[in-house]
Amino acid sequence: MEVIKQVSTIREKMQALRCSGKRIGFVPTMGALHEGHLQLLRASAQDNDITVCSIFVNPTQFNNPEDYKLYPRTSEQDIALLKSVNCDFLFLPDAEEVYTQQTLLQFSFGALEQVMEGEHRPGHFNGVATIVSKLFHYITPHKAYFGQKDLQQVAIVRQLIQALSFNLDLVCYPTVREESGLAMSSRNKRLTYEQRQIAAKLYKALQMAAGMINVKPVQSIKQEVEAYLQSISQIELEYFEIADPNTLQPLQDVIATNEAALCIAAHVGSVRLIDNMLVNLKEG
Ligand code: PAF
Repeated sequence: MEVIKQVSTIREKMQALRCSGKRIGFVPTMGALHEGHLQLLRASAQDNDITVCSIFVNPTQFNNPEDYKLYPRTSEQDIALLKSVNCDFLFLPDAEEVYTQQTLLQFSFGALEQVMEGEHRPGHFNGVATIVSKLFHYITPHKAYFGQKDLQQVAIVRQLIQALSFNLDLVCYPTVREESGLAMSSRNKRLTYEQRQIAAKLYKALQMAAGMINVKPVQSIKQEVEAYLQSISQIELEYFEIADPNTLQPLQDVIATNEAALCIAAHVGSVRLIDNMLVNLKEG
């Protein structure tokens, strides 16, 4: 695996590979890699001739400076994991390389960014759209791989690709979970063993909601889930929403819908976690 830090070098390499007819798969990450990332990397290796992973803890998408400072950075372990899945290139730039000047760019994603993560993390999706656009320009992938755990990010990137006419396919893979049900996330590395057990209750809450979706009104489900999570003292719930899986707008009822997205954000100790589940309605 070749490790590249310079934007000019990654551009040259990718251009040459594209010109020679190679298909490029790209997995953008912020490092602290886990099985969820490895699933995307394996898929990319299967679908494409060349797989590129980027590791860059992007400062512009953190609305909380403490979260940025404490975000796990485990490059040596990451490099070993990338080699184990036969990744061809790791793009590992420094912030000065990516942000040569302060960016004033403003993206607007309309209603999509006014709910959930967009509402609770001001500026977050502007930072995501900025870095993802830059990375797409550098790497020029044929396919880019994202995890469903960041469901709203996937919807934002889909809109970004359309709006800016990026010539690539977005591929989304389901969330990988620990045995307890806890969604794999780089931030889990900041949880103690006990906190991990508690964090698994977020998945339990999603399962609870999924079990009620066809039999109870949306508002009652929300109240029950909120009451369940509020009864666990180590969990501080930020939101629980039942939303349209495409627009991510909250659903008032599920009568005319085939699928719903159950989305949750909560703090366990000082660590903010998100999770979601897509449920089919009126099945069986
Ligand atoms: O999902 C992430 O890890 C990040 O938001 C991404 C897409 C790599 C952009 O920094």
